[in-house]
Amino acid sequence: MKILTIVGARPQFIKAAVVSRLLRNKCQEILVHTGQHYDYNMSDVFFEELDIQKPDYNLGISGGSHGVMTGKMLSSIEEVLLKEKPEKLLVYGDTNSTLAAALAAVKLHIPVYHVEAGNRLGTLENPEEVNRICTDHISTCLISCTESAIHFLEREGLSDRTYFVGDPMYDAFLYYGEQIEEKDRRVLITFDGNAIKSPDEFYYLTCHRQENTDIDEKLIEILKAMNELDAPTVYPVHPRNHNRVLRICNKYTFNNILMCKPTGYLTSISLVKNAKKIVTDSGGLQREAFFAEKKCVTVFDYIVWPETMIDERNNLAKPQCKDILEKLNVEQTINPVYKPFGDGHASEKIVELLMK
Ligand code: UD1
Repeated sequence: MKILTIVGARPQFIKAAVVSRLLRNKCQEILVHTGQHYDYNMSDVFFEELDIQKPDYNLGISGGSHGVMTGKMLSSIEEVLLKEKPEKLLVYGDTNSTLAAALAAVKLHIPVYHVEAGNRLGTLENPEEVNRICTDHISTCLISCTESAIHFLEREGLSDRTYFVGDPMYDAFLYYGEQIEEKDRRVLITFDGNAIKSPDEFYYLTCHRQENTDIDEKLIEILKAMNELDAPTVYPVHPRNHNRVLRICNKYTFNNILMCKPTGYLTSISLVKNAKKIVTDSGGLQREAFFAEKKCVTVFDYIVWPETMIDERNNLAKPQCKDILEKLNVEQTINPVYKPFGDGHASEKIVELLMK
């Protein structure tokens, strides 16, 4: 069987790393990188560290408006599909790369397998929500990470093609988490390109959502909160935010925040495991905080991963200094038998579904 996999953004590289490793033993996989993430530390470092095969195609499409990016991807992916004629298409998550690929394939009658199907926020103002809903409704096989996603798909009348497998991000966390040498991995690269070690005690911040970063005031509030904490904050800055952060730092001083370039996956996992607490707007980091049993505060208006929101393990906060600090002070409790993200073997189940 020939399966074509589409990746484009960081979280997709991580999921593909654990799935493709198994898939390649069973069939011919064509790996296509749309180019959505292209900086060395947003893309190549993941392929190197996670030992992902070199993509068979890199379409080099990035930046621009959502429409321009998605449209360019749609026509380029169609060309590749026409040339390669795969029997199935495998897509992950909710990025513009996911939607473009699913759309190109369904028009060519190629069955789409969507991993991470069924997550819903309940608002079309979130660009990822649009990508999720459209992709789910044109996919042949909906592969979900959580029970709540299964319920959303049921409500939308899609139960007949829905499967629960657990979260491949959990597989990756277990697999790579065991391999990292804690002491060696927490090396950060400053904006000037110098390598520094992260502090022994620190908080970990990531923030890249369009909703939080398109207005200076929101990011300023988030940084003010982190700057007040009892230990420094490590903050790898997504390229989307780089210029905004530099501009803000010309006006305000944040002595308690260590800003650096985006990190690879292994460094990020090491930061998760060693942080005091985590503040983020990333869906991936919320789950990784949960896997590592670290208290998380999610700066966002909507719950993306309801399973993480129990026992104060993950609280939503507004992008306001006071609210973030208050939520960080709410202590979590851990129920060690509560494992909503599967058994760490989601990748095997995904491959089984693809092979059917
Ligand atoms: C995308 C996904 C988001 C996912 C995130 C993971 C969509 C709609 N959003 O958001 O769901 O959580 O990836 O990180 O697909 N840029 C660079 N260098 C890079 C990558 C991006 O400079 O290597 C710039 C782009 O040119 C653009 C901005 O950063 O100006 C945002 O990138 P984009 O890919 O549009 O969305 P993300 O915020 O990364």
